[in-house]
Amino acid sequence: MAIIIDGAKLAQEIRTEIKNEVKKLIINNKRAPGLAVIQIGADPASTIYVRNKIKACAEVGVESFGFTLQNTATEQEVLSLISDLNADSRIDGILCQLPLPVHIDQNKIIFAIAPDKDVDGFHPYNVGLLSMGNPNALVACTPQGCIKMLKAYGIPTRGKRAVVVGRSNIVGRPMALLLLGLDCTVTITHSHTPAEDLPAICREADILVAATGKAGLITPEFVNSDQVILDVGISRTTNGKIVGDVDFTAVEPIVKAITPVPGGVGPVTIAMLLKNTLASYRRRMAD
Ligand code: GUN
Repeated sequence: MAIIIDGAKLAQEIRTEIKNEVKKLIINNKRAPGLAVIQIGADPASTIYVRNKIKACAEVGVESFGFTLQNTATEQEVLSLISDLNADSRIDGILCQLPLPVHIDQNKIIFAIAPDKDVDGFHPYNVGLLSMGNPNALVACTPQGCIKMLKAYGIPTRGKRAVVVGRSNIVGRPMALLLLGLDCTVTITHSHTPAEDLPAICREADILVAATGKAGLITPEFVNSDQVILDVGISRTTNGKIVGDVDFTAVEPIVKAITPVPGGVGPVTIAMLLKNTLASYRRRMAD
């Protein structure tokens, strides 16, 4: 029986801390931190994520500014909105929900967001700081949430073997850099890692981070009894159930600790967005 890493509870604790900090700002007649959330089009999953982010802002007293653009919005329209938000002193964080419609160049959007308002941590300036191990980086929320979970549960990292399955800019790459910064020996696997090699590579891990979006990829042959598993995947099964990359029912009895889906990495990710927004606010107010 594994320790179940309770992301919902941890996220609630972090939100309470942030809420108290925002309360203190308001008592001292400061403005609330502000987060702009841009959604382009009506992708159903994105709509749910954006709604959850805006709800989390309201819960802690962060002011949210939602912008929903039609699927037909031009790249120039989005860039012009971002330029306005970059200049708006009420806004401390700007987030453009991905994926974007195919006619919009994702890199152009990411590059346009002012690095000091880049609460997603996707801008090359912040990615560069992260890759240098510089603590001033705004770090992508999902991998940052994963690290928060490891720390909250006292899971050691120094000298441990970490395997990250998936090399996306949103999760896999920044996750590997964070684990490296915590003195893990890090392996990244990806879609070109031969499928027949994957179980043995994963089985070597003390910490296994699964971030592929392939439901049930991680089965008992990928794990060992001392392993801690962070399941970042979110997929919907044909009968509407939300599941992760890990076959939880089969794997949970074997490993040392595991995050459930839902109620694992997801809620902590949103808490990290609030944390980044508050950090960005404090830095900008101090300038
Ligand atoms: N789409 C999936 N995850 C994320 C995220 O963390 N940030 C943004 N902006 N879009 C996403």
